Amino acid sequence: MPNAKLTPISQILADLSEVETPCYVVDRGLLEKNLRVLESVRERTGCRILLALKGFAMFSLFPVIAKSLDGTAASSLHEARLGFEEFGKEVHTFCPGFVESEFEQVLSFSDHVVFNSFSQWEFFRDRVPAGAGGKKFGIRVNPEHSEVKTAIYDPCAPFSRLGVTRANFRPEKLAGISGLHFHTLCELNADSLARTLRAFEAGFGPVLGTMQWVNFGGGHHITRPDYDVDLLCGLAAAFRDRYGVQVYLEPGEAVALNTGFLAASVVDIVDNGMKIAILDTSAAAHMPDVIEMPYRPEIAGAGKPGEFEYTYRLGGLTCLAGDVIGDYSFPEPLRIGSRVVFQDMAHYTMVKNNTFNGVKLPSIAVREGEGNIRVVRRFGYEDYRNRLS
Ligand SMILES: Cc1ncc(COP(=O)(O)O)c(C=O)c1O
Repeated sequence: MPNAKLTPISQILADLSEVETPCYVVDRGLLEKNLRVLESVRERTGCRILLALKGFAMFSLFPVIAKSLDGTAASSLHEARLGFEEFGKEVHTFCPGFVESEFEQVLSFSDHVVFNSFSQWEFFRDRVPAGAGGKKFGIRVNPEHSEVKTAIYDPCAPFSRLGVTRANFRPEKLAGISGLHFHTLCELNADSLARTLRAFEAGFGPVLGTMQWVNFGGGHHITRPDYDVDLLCGLAAAFRDRYGVQVYLEPGEAVALNTGFLAASVVDIVDNGMKIAILDTSAAAHMPDVIEMPYRPEIAGAGKPGEFEYTYRLGGLTCLAGDVIGDYSFPEPLRIGSRVVFQDMAHYTMVKNNTFNGVKLPSIAVREGEGNIRVVRRFGYEDYRNRLS
């Protein structure tokens, strides 16, 4: 992918001042910038990189992403189908528990299927239909080494259901298994991968000689400015050489990091000890990680409370008392109709949003270049109704 000149963020924000709200807008140039970083990792290490659909599944951009990456990582039948039909290339599916009635379809869409336990492997091994010869099967393991500080995002937390621990690993049941998978990281740098690999190799190194591939999962924040890409490349290349395996990475967040915006408008301003602006979006419905993670999204041109003259609490459209995005200050007072643009809103937003309270889902748009925003999807009443009966 050629090294295109990047548009200044001020130009992107100027373009966003015209877009309908609420609307997620992903900037194609910023996405391509991330893809160039990921391409360089592929080229330097020979590893294959999959887009984890759970993090980002905006399929109108799959043709762009598919030029740089090797396929998709799915976590359900529907994600596997989306990857197969819309992305092409390789589809790798892991699920904590495959359901018997769906398995044949999962298999039909997937190149790799990764099981979370030996009992699932033994159950489905005998249900692989004849003619599925080219499919590859793997086991997810739990290296029991925690790097993630927030327990709900830590697959190695005590009593985690994710991955086979060393004590439960059964080398005698590996016939038919060609690879191992681990996923232990979340928004972490390569030093966390280095420590994880040591734990992984200490536990499972003895069987790696019989494996063809190893999947290092996601959570690698590769496209963050301070990410140590050299360390990642060194680790991946050395691992490949040590064991003679194909290395896979399956980031979600790193593909779409800092590429998207959620444009919203102020619909009312009320006062209860402080000014509270109600927006035409919602933390609960449109950016659930703000509440779940929790985190405070950045807003272009706004600061912490008191940093600028006018401070507001920003709240959402649902009746959940906690549907609050946070407290922010602005250099100018907000008015009804004022535009508020949340940054870094591409990943874990559209894939997680919901229609709680019947709140309308944000439109989805691509910013193709200067002054050129293309709305690719609008949602309406039917999208709400079709999820109910
Ligand atoms: C198995 C697996 N692979 C990949 C990912 C993608 O992680 P991230 O979006 O943090 O890169 C996740 C996220 O939870 C995951 O569970």
